[in-house]
Amino acid sequence: MEARGDSFLRQRQVLFLFVFLGVSLAESESRRYSVVEETERGFLIANLAKDLGLGVGELAVRGAQVVSKGNRQHIQLNHQNGDLLLHEKLDREELCGPTEPCVLHFQILLQNPLQFITNELQVIDVNDHSPVFLEHEMQLKLLENTPPGTIIPLGNAEDLDVGRNSLQNYTVTPNSHFHVLTRSRRDGRKYPLLVLDKALDREEQPELILTLTALDGGSPPRSGIAQVHIVVLDINDNAPEFTQSLYEVQVLENSPINSVLVTVSASDLDTGNLGTVSYAFFHASEEIRKTFQLNPITGDIQLVKYLNYEVMNTYEVDIEAKDGGGLSGKTTVIVQVVDVNDNPPELTLSSIASPIPENSPETVVAVFSVSDPDSGDNGRIMCSIESNLPFNLKPSEENFYTLVTNGALDRESQAEYNITITVSDLGTPRLKTQHNITVTVSDVNDNAPAFSQTTYTLRVRENNSPALHIGTVSATDRDAGANAQVTYSLLPPRDPHLPLASLVSINADNGQLFALRSLDYEALQAFEVRVGALVRVLVLDDNDNAPFVLYPLQNGSAPCTELVPRAAEAGYLVTKVVAVDGDSGQNAWLSFQLLKATEPGLFGVWAHNGEVRTARLLSERDAVRHRLLVLVKDNGEPPLSASVTLHVLLVDGFSQPYLPLPDVAAAEARADPLTVYLVIALASVSSLFLCSALAFVAVRLCRRSGAASGGGCAVPEGHFPGHLVDVSGAGTLSQSYRYEVCLAGGTGTSEFKFLKPIIPSGLVGRRPKGEGERERISCRLCA
Ligand SMILES: *[C@@H]1O[C@H](CO)[C@@H](O)[C@H](O)[C@H]1NC(C)=O
Ligand SMILES: *[C@@H]1O[C@H](CO)[C@@H](O)[C@H](O)[C@H]1NC(C)=O
Ligand SMILES: *[C@@H]1O[C@H](CO)[C@@H](O)[C@H](O)[C@H]1NC(C)=O
Ligand SMILES: *[C@@H]1O[C@H](CO)[C@@H](O)[C@H](O)[C@H]1NC(C)=O
Repeated sequence: MEARGDSFLRQRQVLFLFVFLGVSLAESESRRYSVVEETERGFLIANLAKDLGLGVGELAVRGAQVVSKGNRQHIQLNHQNGDLLLHEKLDREELCGPTEPCVLHFQILLQNPLQFITNELQVIDVNDHSPVFLEHEMQLKLLENTPPGTIIPLGNAEDLDVGRNSLQNYTVTPNSHFHVLTRSRRDGRKYPLLVLDKALDREEQPELILTLTALDGGSPPRSGIAQVHIVVLDINDNAPEFTQSLYEVQVLENSPINSVLVTVSASDLDTGNLGTVSYAFFHASEEIRKTFQLNPITGDIQLVKYLNYEVMNTYEVDIEAKDGGGLSGKTTVIVQVVDVNDNPPELTLSSIASPIPENSPETVVAVFSVSDPDSGDNGRIMCSIESNLPFNLKPSEENFYTLVTNGALDRESQAEYNITITVSDLGTPRLKTQHNITVTVSDVNDNAPAFSQTTYTLRVRENNSPALHIGTVSATDRDAGANAQVTYSLLPPRDPHLPLASLVSINADNGQLFALRSLDYEALQAFEVRVGALVRVLVLDDNDNAPFVLYPLQNGSAPCTELVPRAAEAGYLVTKVVAVDGDSGQNAWLSFQLLKATEPGLFGVWAHNGEVRTARLLSERDAVRHRLLVLVKDNGEPPLSASVTLHVLLVDGFSQPYLPLPDVAAAEARADPLTVYLVIALASVSSLFLCSALAFVAVRLCRRSGAASGGGCAVPEGHFPGHLVDVSGAGTLSQSYRYEVCLAGGTGTSEFKFLKPIIPSGLVGRRPKGEGERERISCRLCA
């Protein structure tokens, strides 16, 4: 309630009132009173009479009144005692807002004489307002990688009070990440700044709620609060991480397709797409991709192909998990395939010798190997045969076994054995394989023929007719086949004087005895005939001789060269490859084949007869010299072969008939120039004979071409390699044949034929030397 003088203000006030009232002021004096806002009505501001130095009744007499601006009457004057009272409660913020100081002006008007007294009432602020935030909730979104030190402006609060009572300071609830700075604008308003002190981590704390408090400077201070909701935004700062760095699974090799072997799982702390994980094989081999399937979403590893322990027993599968931001993690899955006894043992027969000859000592009958791809006991193998057989199984190297006879076998007691080889593994369940082999025992001539009776007594009558069947003896042989073919013959009589050969004869085949002449009881009452039984043994041919080329000769210093006139027609007979084979029957059948030629397509070789012919017309463009390689193959099993090189020279001239005829046949041949027959005698017994015969042919063939080419040809001498020279072994007889082979030349359509033997039987060696005539003529016409 103190009055303060201020001349400057007073002058302004004077001027103001002068305009306001339209009256000039002679005298003015300004007094200032003060009242605290919100003070109750009726509050005594001052005693005006006292302040003006007037008596108590004088104010009323002079008609004093309070004049305020506007209609609001803040102050009231008591005329009786001169008290200046507060007419209503004052609100500083309403009257002045932010203006400080808040001063209300009023005049005391005195009449008689007229006097204006200017007064001021200062309304003093009290801290009756709290700071108030415009937004009570604020939301902030911050990336988790926002660097510490970052400053974020926050919404400010307002406090209607002024001076010390106005907003002074902002604070935030204590936390480890932020603090708040208070800053002032140019107009003095204060605003808060949020400062990040420590890096955020969404994965640790995805959001923070801070209470921002605005404080004023009143006493006591007042405050306002607001919630600051801070949402930490994710960045892809976390890679997917597998729950296990290594997964180990054991899988039975017979696991069904589509079975899920294992599920891998990775997690990513990030959110949304950044934390969404997908799985994929990492650098997986083709084999792994074909065997397993990985569900990219669930991480299930499924089997898509049957496992096979024997092929692959461990898979190491690298798997990658990737998040939406491209970060990845890895794990390894070891799939161990567990063996299942899914393979029966296998038996591979390498060789089998059957038949095996009887009476032989311990003999290897079969060699076989056993295997089982399973492992452990599943792959451990046992091998056995029936115990009641005269055979043994002997383990040999590695997994090989031999089946051997216990000792000599006797065909006559058992000619055939069925042997079951059982191979079983020790797995669970036990798997086994059986292999049956039949071993036959071949016969050896170890049994002599035995007569049904040791003695036969034959009664037959005297004066019989000659050739009377007087009885039959019979012998059997326990051997088989040829070894059992019995031939009967009469043995020399005990009594050397008995003319047995004139008395009886025996049919060698069936043992029937015949009287050769009429017997005379009176001359001969009884006689004794000794009969012997014999077994013949045959030797069978084997393809043990390769074909041997007789013509053209390959060994000569100057090879035979065939001359072919360029004018020759297609089909012209160039030459003929002649070859022999020491074997017999099919083993000696030969076929010919052109293996190589200087000019393919120009010459052809007849498969069956070895004839070499032109295949087309010759031309000037064809080379002069040609070389042909011809293969000669026999029909044995396996076939054996030989090859021969032919040299052909093309000369200018005309077609001529092939083969000059041997002198002896020249005349006949000229009669039929188109057909020339060549007879080759093949004798498998006497190679000497064969040599000379074939040498003859060769000489004839060579002489012609040799003469034409001017070169000489060698002629084979001595035994041909591989030829059967001596087939007579102990107790064996041999059969020998000569075959007549007719070759039709000139037409190109003739065929190679095996004809009947021309010397049906007999040993060549047995012939008297004088009969060599036919043997030397080995080449003749057979028209
Ligand atoms: C604001 O408040 C803080 C915390 O209460 C205090 O440390 C600081 O001194 C105050 N600042 C002012 C200007 O009052
Ligand atoms: C062997 O087996 C064959 C065929 O099964 C049969 O015909 C033959 O009689 C058997 N031989 C023996 C000696 O058991
Ligand atoms: C092997 O022989 C046995 C006995 O004779 C027979 O039971 C089995 O079926 C035969 N096995 C084969 C594979 O032929
Ligand atoms: C070649 O001929 C010579 C004699 O002319 C003979 O000694 C040799 O064995 C023959 N060679 C062949 C492979 O026929």
